[in-house]
Amino acid sequence: MKGIILAGGAGTRLYPLNEVVSKQLLPVYDKPMICYPLATLMLMGIKDILIISTPQDTPIIEEYLGNGDNLGIQLSYKVQDEPKGIAEAFILGDAFIGNEPVCLILGDNIFYMGDQTHQIKERAEGLDGALVFGYRVSDPARFGVIEFDGTSDRVVSIEEKPAQPKSNYAAVGLYFYDSTVVEKAKALKPSARGELEITDLNDAYLQENKLKAVRLKRGTAWLDAGVPEALLEASNFVGAVEKRQGLKICCPEEVAFRMGFITKDQLENTINNIKKGSSYRAYLETVLTEI
Ligand code: TTP
Repeated sequence: MKGIILAGGAGTRLYPLNEVVSKQLLPVYDKPMICYPLATLMLMGIKDILIISTPQDTPIIEEYLGNGDNLGIQLSYKVQDEPKGIAEAFILGDAFIGNEPVCLILGDNIFYMGDQTHQIKERAEGLDGALVFGYRVSDPARFGVIEFDGTSDRVVSIEEKPAQPKSNYAAVGLYFYDSTVVEKAKALKPSARGELEITDLNDAYLQENKLKAVRLKRGTAWLDAGVPEALLEASNFVGAVEKRQGLKICCPEEVAFRMGFITKDQLENTINNIKKGSSYRAYLETVLTEI
């Protein structure tokens, strides 16, 4: 299973926060935003990851995350010249995906889902078709809304920002596809707003009766940090949980160690490369001694 983090976009709604700093490197409480989707992929056991971003931001993200050696994973990078839509990720990722299934996560989506990550991982193994995720929201009209076939996981429709939502389940920025995704993405036509739409891609799977959706459990948090208010809410949420538990949410170095991607020596080496005095370094030292 390959992984893609789509971390470009126009970021119109965050202006001026992202004028000189990539949206995906803005802080969500104590770490850059991209750590959250990265750690989520890692928690699902995905180790070969392509990061797609803008011409301006890709080199900066690469400077921060490097080739993934220190996390025991492989990170590669690809530029999206213009924000031509989420589904373009699969055209840009053609050579990277090859004949494997792939998981796409949006760079501004933050998940806190406990052991549901393991269930999702198992569910996605040997996938034939597409798997998307529905999260219950109070205001579905703002999202892509999933209509389920009764209580089953079969999708009847996904409608983008419908005036009359057919359910309370919003489609989140996490998607699994089999390797036919590349040819399906290449066959898409740009929408009225000039983008290759993820909804159209999902529709292609729906036509083949191969689109399934998992309802995320009610104890799950799904936040997207696309507007200033949501960015603050995400920081407040992460800060509240982390302070209470003394455990970090989506700390890539910790996840790498707990998942067995890196050894104790490698984590120690990473810690030694972090300037003394940060609470992040102190936290990783605790992780090292506790496990
Ligand atoms: P959006 O929130 O749809 O768009 P955006 O980030 O460009 O922001 P705005 O709507 O305020 O202009 O994008 C969701 C995520 O997908 C976000 O992390 C950016 C990324 N993205 C790309 O990398 N390329 C694209 O072509 C699109 C549409 C989005």
